Amino acid sequence: MNPPNALASSGTTASPPAGKSVDAANVDNVITAGAATIKSVYVYEVPIRIWHWTNALAIVVLAITGYLIGSPPPSVTGEASDHFIMGYIRFAHFVAGYVMAIGLIGRTYWAFAGNYYARELYWVPLFQLAYWKDVLSMMKWYAFISPRPAIFIGHNPLARFSMFFTFLVPSCFMMLTGFAMYAEGEQPGSFYEAMFGWVIPLLGQSQDVHTWHHFGMYGILCFVILHIYAGVREEIMGRTSMLSTMISGHRTFKD
Ligand code: HEM
Ligand code: HEM
Repeated sequence: MNPPNALASSGTTASPPAGKSVDAANVDNVITAGAATIKSVYVYEVPIRIWHWTNALAIVVLAITGYLIGSPPPSVTGEASDHFIMGYIRFAHFVAGYVMAIGLIGRTYWAFAGNYYARELYWVPLFQLAYWKDVLSMMKWYAFISPRPAIFIGHNPLARFSMFFTFLVPSCFMMLTGFAMYAEGEQPGSFYEAMFGWVIPLLGQSQDVHTWHHFGMYGILCFVILHIYAGVREEIMGRTSMLSTMISGHRTFKD
């Protein structure tokens, strides 16, 4: 069942509103054909926006505390129970880890319950030629080769690729490896060990899981840096709102 503002996923012949282009796959036509004077489309529903900012905060906490777990601060003198520094750092890491994991389960539920755009994070149309043409056009725009980008109501095709392959997949990896290490602390026979114990032998031994989990952090941080750059750049230079869309939910058109 499609929600009210769902889009056809391919090929309609409706023409875009005057002065506005649409993506080559024509996926945005159903909406843009609706009104010649269209100024904005409601794209990101409340659960998506709450999830986005909560998840971003959780990842910041995870990266800071994770770094400190891997490179701990110098030992403080005195009783460990008087300061408990590593304890608090690890506690914050685990709380944020839970926020991230529960958040992603909720976000996945919303991919079924929400509108068309709520599903974009979960698949990439890799086998559509039109998709790759759009990717190329966005690469040219980001590389300052093309003077004018196309308009996309949901994620642009390049963002979509990076959100799936450099955020969603690595995030699942971080959760699996994170809970596998957590299971070690919970001891054999625990619920966590039953659920995630298999990850450790798959990757070698405990230290290998630590190392891969650590590498994963740098992978996600690369995504975050490029993502924020692209979000701010598009807000300023692009033809639609971007950063503000993740706040208000509305994609507004500048021309
Ligand atoms: C983007 C998400 C995450 C990032 C960036 C991250 C980062 C890190 C880093 C850098 C380390 C240190 C690894 C080392 O050098 O030994 C670490 C350790 C750990 N992380 Fe994560 N992590 C994330 C998600 C999670 C999740 C979802 C969990 C699940 C509870 C988790 C649980 C753990 C555990 C149990 C350790 C080992 C703690 C210890 O040995 O004291 N992490 N994390
Ligand atoms: C750890 C930090 C962050 C992570 C992991 C992250 C991740 C994501 C993900 C996965 C999406 C897709 C949302 C969906 O379809 O459900 C998204 C969208 C978005 N994010 Fe972030 N984000 C982070 C921080 C930020 C920050 C700081 C900004 C502001 C500059 C930002 C701006 C946006 C915008 C504007 C979108 C919508 C893009 C579009 O409409 O195509 N994000 N982000």
